[in-house]
Amino acid sequence: MPVIAFTSPKGGVGKTTLAAHVAALLARRGHRVVALDLDPQNALRLHLGLPLREEEGLFTDLSRPWRQSLRETPAGVGLLPYGTVEPRRAMENAAALLDNPELLAAIARDVVADPATILVLDSPPGPTPPLAALLPLVDVLAVVLLADAGSAAMLPLVASGRVLGRGTLASRVAGRLAVVLNQVDLDSPLSKAVLDGAARMLGDRLIGAVARDEALAEALADKRLLLSPMEGGAAEDLHALADAIAARLPASPAAPPATRRRGGYSALSEWGLDS
Ligand SMILES: Nc1ncnc2c1ncn2[C@@H]1O[C@H](COP(=O)(O)OP(=O)(O)O)[C@@H](O)[C@H]1O
Ligand SMILES: [Mg+2]
Repeated sequence: MPVIAFTSPKGGVGKTTLAAHVAALLARRGHRVVALDLDPQNALRLHLGLPLREEEGLFTDLSRPWRQSLRETPAGVGLLPYGTVEPRRAMENAAALLDNPELLAAIARDVVADPATILVLDSPPGPTPPLAALLPLVDVLAVVLLADAGSAAMLPLVASGRVLGRGTLASRVAGRLAVVLNQVDLDSPLSKAVLDGAARMLGDRLIGAVARDEALAEALADKRLLLSPMEGGAAEDLHALADAIAARLPASPAAPPATRRRGGYSALSEWGLDS
């Protein structure tokens, strides 16, 4: 049922790396996890251990039944790859989803129709039609930024929720927005200053800080994920991040008591609008 999305106004900040690790860590805790790649770069498959020659994906042909694109990966995560497509096809997919978000939303709803399934989305930088199509379904919108000056400049925009745009949908999703600072280096005064400033600005909306760690960069080159907390460094931070995200998921026993979300309104249930 729960949906987690990794996004960022910026590219190259670790969205795919973090999405792959969090998906695999949640799978290791016994959850059924399906990862869906919304990025035409189609890189999530490599992090999760699919060979480069596997080029099929959900966005190769959005009208095909999604189960035909589902791959079981060595990381223990089900994967819906984007697919290796021509740039023109990627633009056509984006245009089709701007026109009709349901093309993708219906697929995602079907994936999480099984209440035991957690859906993890990886997206390209910035606002995109595929992510916009799924935003109403997202429980945790993890915005990944670096602990550097360029990312620091984006923090006020992120903190205000304006990265989501304006209007009713954006304000509805803003409460689910959480920030992860990646590539934190506590030996760097700038990195430390950005982390401290972000913590002050965001409070509990800062849900994770992941150390800059060459082992994490190398993991992809070794076709593996950094999953053992014993490896220290970023691996430990990734576990803490997976914990923080799990605690924010609606069905999680560790989730904080939801204030003002009483649900179960009798008339709405009668009319088939169960919340
Ligand atoms: N915490 C980290 N420490 C060191 N390198 C990292 C870390 N996180 C990501 N990287 C490296 O940064 C690069 C970009 O990561 P990636 O996940 O592809 O970013 P995005 O999906 O945002 O474009 C990759 O080479 C990755 O291995
Ligand atoms: Mg990426």
